[in-house]
Amino acid sequence: MYNAFLTKFIRRIALKGTVLYEIIDNVAVLTVDNPPVNPLSDGVRTGLYESITKAESDDSVKGVVLTGNGRAFIAGADISEFGGNVEGVSLNEVFSKLEFCSKPVVAAINGIALGGGLETALCCNYRIAANSAFVGLPEVNLGLLPGGGGTQRLPRLAGPGEALKMMLTGGHVPAKKALNMGIIDDISDNVVEDSIKFVLDKAENEENHPKVRDLNDKMIEARGNDKILLEAQAMAAKSRKGQFAPGQIIKCVEAAINLDDFDEGLKKEGELFLECLLHPQREAMIHIFFGERAASKISDVPKDTPTKDIKKAGIIGSGTMGGGIAMCFANAGIPVHIIDQDEENLKRGVSVIEKNYDFMVNRGRLSAEQKDAVFGLVSSSLDYADISDCDIVIEAVYENLELKHDIFKTLDEIVKPDAILASNTSGLDIDSIAQVTKRPELIVGTHFFSPANIMRLLEVVRGEETSNETLATIMAIGKKLKKAAVVSLNAPGFIGNRMLFGYTAQANMLLLEGALPHQIDQALESFGLNMGPFRMMDLVGLDLGWRARKLGGKESPLHAKIGDELCEQNRFGQKNSKGYYNYTEGSRAPNAAPENESLYEKISQENGFNRRDISDEEIIDRCMLALINEGADILSEGVAQRAVDIDVVYINGYGFPIWRGGPMHHANAMGLDKVVEKLNKYHESTGNDVYKPSELLVKLAEKGERLGDAPNKDDRKEKLGFEMSSVANNF
Ligand SMILES: NC(=O)c1ccc[n+]([C@@H]2O[C@H](COP(=O)([O-])OP(=O)(O)OC[C@H]3O[C@@H](n4cnc5c(N)ncnc54)[C@H](O)[C@@H]3O)[C@@H](O)[C@H]2O)c1
Repeated sequence: MYNAFLTKFIRRIALKGTVLYEIIDNVAVLTVDNPPVNPLSDGVRTGLYESITKAESDDSVKGVVLTGNGRAFIAGADISEFGGNVEGVSLNEVFSKLEFCSKPVVAAINGIALGGGLETALCCNYRIAANSAFVGLPEVNLGLLPGGGGTQRLPRLAGPGEALKMMLTGGHVPAKKALNMGIIDDISDNVVEDSIKFVLDKAENEENHPKVRDLNDKMIEARGNDKILLEAQAMAAKSRKGQFAPGQIIKCVEAAINLDDFDEGLKKEGELFLECLLHPQREAMIHIFFGERAASKISDVPKDTPTKDIKKAGIIGSGTMGGGIAMCFANAGIPVHIIDQDEENLKRGVSVIEKNYDFMVNRGRLSAEQKDAVFGLVSSSLDYADISDCDIVIEAVYENLELKHDIFKTLDEIVKPDAILASNTSGLDIDSIAQVTKRPELIVGTHFFSPANIMRLLEVVRGEETSNETLATIMAIGKKLKKAAVVSLNAPGFIGNRMLFGYTAQANMLLLEGALPHQIDQALESFGLNMGPFRMMDLVGLDLGWRARKLGGKESPLHAKIGDELCEQNRFGQKNSKGYYNYTEGSRAPNAAPENESLYEKISQENGFNRRDISDEEIIDRCMLALINEGADILSEGVAQRAVDIDVVYINGYGFPIWRGGPMHHANAMGLDKVVEKLNKYHESTGNDVYKPSELLVKLAEKGERLGDAPNKDDRKEKLGFEMSSVANNF
């Protein structure tokens, strides 16, 4: 007896999270307590099951109110349990207990109710939410579907079309909208108090309490209406290309519409959920979910490092990047002042910002008042004195080291001495910039991606002398600006552009060897990339590298010979409607350019290549291996802290498919022994050192290990220097 009690006690305290039980006015108030956001961990599930049992067996209890402690109702399932052994009561047992509770149950949604959190609420008879609460089923973002009955219950409340939209976007729905959609019954400012009154009233005055599972009207109405499912399929094909889970979600809703028996629908959902759970995309997407959180931590910067309060930001340069970065600050509620060198550029830059906001108003994404408030945070002038009181200044002028030196000297004199001075350079040496100032510890690279107000990636470039406080502040600001911030050491091309360079160079080599741009693009797009390399080069402009080489009197490297020759023939890419492809006025759609083919033949021949048929497999292999091999070197030099940081960079800045988990995860999934074998094969067949396997890959493959954290400082390869880099010369 004693032993049994002890075993139960030990098991109970080993479980994560709990549920607090109290009686208020004859109502059992169950409060989920699992800080910080109350996920449905084993302790919470067990606590819920036991609390409902207790409330049912207490005759004085008239009803149950379920709420969450702190700012969340229930943020969702406990993701750390996925794929492992699950302890305690299962979620389905809890949901069934809730749904069939002999007393009325109200979900008092005090804060976020996402995934399993909303599914819990959908098993209650009634739902009342705080004004500030929001609900959602974001499982699709993790390669999953709402497997706790969400796909069967939400359509019964919101209708299948709206439910599908919500589940396929994975978006958050604010309380007011959730009320209009029929997901919740009421909104209240005192959600627990009002829920207690509400449930007492229902217990006294009504005999039957609705169960979502019984609400079939909207399902029957949708039967035979193919439009709903077809629209959902089109939506998934457009916004979630290549992903497995969206199709499964649609199949679940199809079952909800067509099956008479709710439990049959649940069973179908369970089967389709399991397929998602076992699918490699689930592992890849969860790897990125945790990876983004890991990337914000810097291994040698203590967690409790103080950060500076950023009350006002300054931007130098109102061009493409300066304007976008200014919008990021304004959107986060931080006043921002922009400086440019002349009136005309400044006016143009600020008007682009306003147009962007107007576009959002026209699309209904912002109200006119919101636009006034946010645009009101943006000010501008030509006078550097106006930014002297800023806490951070980000320079975004032309990519020219001398110009940046001049600007940093001026900033160092004018801006208050404890302010952070950052550069948005794509590849210049941050240490060289820091050296012209008297505050090298406050100098850092903040490499935003274009368009800066939209792209999530922020590469934070850590100079030799950048202080911990500066880094911690930038990581905190990154979070505030809703960016995926990743730290890179100061080395040519940082993380992303260095890898991109190797990748595009190999795409160009494949062109020289016999493949055509559209074949290469199609192969890589079918692998999952948003945009193939030739469409991307046309978009960026072929003339940038060509002009830089001409100016420096440099010869074209082998991989750039075709691109440079296209520039000689006045084909710069989208900017003048012809590059690797042809474009019609006002359209970005690429059309084949057969007139280029004789040029490809000629340059291939001149450089000793006998053009040959190249398979899609070779195209994908060679471009991916170039990325992976460079990524491994970046890791072995400690330029990136961990492999997943590289994945976060590539997914958020370079259109790599999230469902493949990034290039490093892709390598791990392939198996590093296989990666090394393929690298050796292409090294031999092409003679190109790009494919000479990185020592780190060879070492890990031999030990049967995976790419993970960067090696310890003593084991690192020497970092690529700016002066000896071939990468920097190619940007
Ligand atoms: N465009 C991109 O895709 C991209 C992406 C990432 C990083 N970057 C980097 O961001 C920086 C800016 O690039 P961009 O594309 O926004 O350039 P841009 O040509 O669009 O704008 C540069 C702006 O800086 C202003 N300027 C120049 N000298 C100045 C001075 N002395 N004082 C004040 N203003 C001055 C110019 O008038 C212009 O408005 C560069 O370092 C670039 O490498 C660009």
